[in-house]
Parts: sequence; C-alpha cells; structure tokens
Amino acid sequence: MSRMIVPHTTPLSEPAPERARTVRKAVVPAAGLGTRFLPATKATPKEMLPVVDKPAIQYVVEEAAAAGLDDVLMITGRHKRAIEDHFDHAFELEQALAAKGDTVRLDAVRDPARLADIHHIRQGDPLGLGHAVLCARHHVGDQPFAVLLGDDLIDPRETLLSRMLDVRDRYEGSVVALMEVPPEQIHLYGCAAVEPSRPGEDGVVRVTGLVEKPSREDAPSRYAVIGRYVLDPAVFGVLDRTPPGRGGEIQLTDALRELAADGTVHGVVFDGLRYDTGDRADYLRTVVRLACDRADLGPEFVAWLKQFVAGLEATGARRDRFAA
Ligand code: UTP
Repeated sequence: MSRMIVPHTTPLSEPAPERARTVRKAVVPAAGLGTRFLPATKATPKEMLPVVDKPAIQYVVEEAAAAGLDDVLMITGRHKRAIEDHFDHAFELEQALAAKGDTVRLDAVRDPARLADIHHIRQGDPLGLGHAVLCARHHVGDQPFAVLLGDDLIDPRETLLSRMLDVRDRYEGSVVALMEVPPEQIHLYGCAAVEPSRPGEDGVVRVTGLVEKPSREDAPSRYAVIGRYVLDPAVFGVLDRTPPGRGGEIQLTDALRELAADGTVHGVVFDGLRYDTGDRADYLRTVVRLACDRADLGPEFVAWLKQFVAGLEATGARRDRFAA
C-alpha cells in the first residue's frame, strides 16, 4: 500500500483536513525482561509465548499489517534469535512440509515472514520502554510512527489502531490508546488526565497530563494508557533528554507528559477486548478466549471447558458441604 507523505503544516491543536495516511512504520518493543513470567521467560522472550498456536508477537504484527503498516521494526533484547527466526524463512522445515504436501502447515510457517518488511534492532540493556522507542530513531526518521507493545494483544476483530491512525491524520501530534480500568487497577498503568477534544468527536479526548503507575488517590482519572501509540517524531528529541524515572527506567510516559503539556497528545478511548500476555492470569484468559473463538478448535474445546467448569463447581459444592 503506498501512502502520500504530508508535511506537518496544520496547527497542532486543530483537526487537520481529510488527507492520506502518513504513518507507514510500526515499532514493536520486545526487549523487556518479562520478570512476571519467570521462569518461562528465562530463555524465551515473553512475546514468543504461544497463544493457541501462534506466538503473541505474531498477533501484534498481524494487527500492524491489517492497519496498513508494512514496515515493522522489532526492538529485541537478550533472546533476539527466537523472534528473528520466527519472522524469517525456515528453509528445511518448509522443504519437509512441501515434500509431504502439507500445504496448510507450510502456509502457517511462511505467513510470519510475509506479513510485512520486518527489521530488527537490539536494545542492549533494557533501560525502559522510552529507551526502547528511542532505539528506533534512526530507522523511523522524521515521520510519525506506530508503537505496538509486543506483549499487549488487541483482539483481532477490533479496529483500534486504524482509529488511532485516523486521529493522527486529523489532529497530528501523538495519539495514545486509553482504556477505563477499575480504580484499584490504575496503579498498574500510565494514567491520563483528559479533557474533551471537540464537540461531536466521540471517543477522542485531549490528554492534558500523564502519570506513570499512580496510586489510586493520585490518579487523575480512570483512563489507563494501553500498549498502542501513534507518535510524532518530536518524541525522539524529548526522549533523548528524559532522565530515568520510575523504577530507574526511561519512561515513555515521562516524554509523552512533556508533549501533552503542549496540547499535542490525543487519546482514543477503547472499550474492546485487550489482553496483557505478560501477566500470567491474563495470558491464561487470552489463550482460553481465543481458543474458544477458533473455528477448528473452538467447538470441541468449549464443550470440554463446560464439562470442566461444571466438574469444578460440583467439587467446590461438595467441599463447601463438607466444610460446613
Ligand atoms: P513491561 O512493562 O511489561 O516490562 O514492558 P517487562 O520488563 O517486559 O516485563 P515484566 O514487568 O518484568 O514482567 C512493556 C513492553 O515494553 C518492552 C517489553 O518487551 C514489553 O513489550 N520493553 C520494556 C522493552 O522493549 N525494553 C525495556 O527496556 C522495557
């Protein structure tokens, strides 16, 4: 898909007129330590953990490709090889499957390499998400770009990223994805202070401030920043001088706070299905949910699941009777 590159000439605070999309590149940070998932992530990146039969990061790259982003830069860490190999050709495996005439599996093996033009860069030390994004500077250049966290899965039926790209094209500046979470969970996220954007603009807000993982009392709202961003290249200059913040890491939230102070950050409110596959409980929910939705596995799996849950309930009821 080819896109026209449009210079940034409209005032940042006003919606820009209809125009062709300017964003072509996606950056996928996947260099974190994944400590919440140890020991599984000792020798395997958490982004490579399977969700049914594909690694989590493949869903993320499929989402970027579906939104028309045909250039994907992976920011990798210690386990670079597994991610690189997954998005490359596997000649011996392909030959073996071709010899057997197993075209279904052959396609499944070839698909990841065909999704987009995929590049890799190493972060070195995992100095934080902000630092990971800064590593993309040379590759991205002076164009807006999308960031999709490699362990954050948006249900394949949702259109969040496309909505965010539209908002970038209309407002310029940067765009974050916001999700309302219960007050007791806000300390797990970056949290946004927001105000309405413009009359009639449903689901789009102006971000006036950002706090990384605030306590419930200090949170300016219930809007959590989730792992999708469309960033103006101005973010690189800010990240370059952003000192380590919370947890000693260079935080993307800190850089975005500075951009938000200029009125150049908007938020797209998302109320669809999103899974944090870096969290063990959410990972399990993701696998079950997506397995239930699969035409090939779902019907049998759902029937088993119903029986399994009924069995759990019966055992629980028996236990309660004995305990009483
Ligand atoms: P997380 O906040 O989930 O951190 O990163 P983490 O270190 O990967 O995982 P835990 O908390 O120790 O379990 C969010 C995203 O940013 C990437 C991660 O790979 C993940 O996709 N990231 C984080 C980097 O690429 N580099 C970093 O230095 C930190």
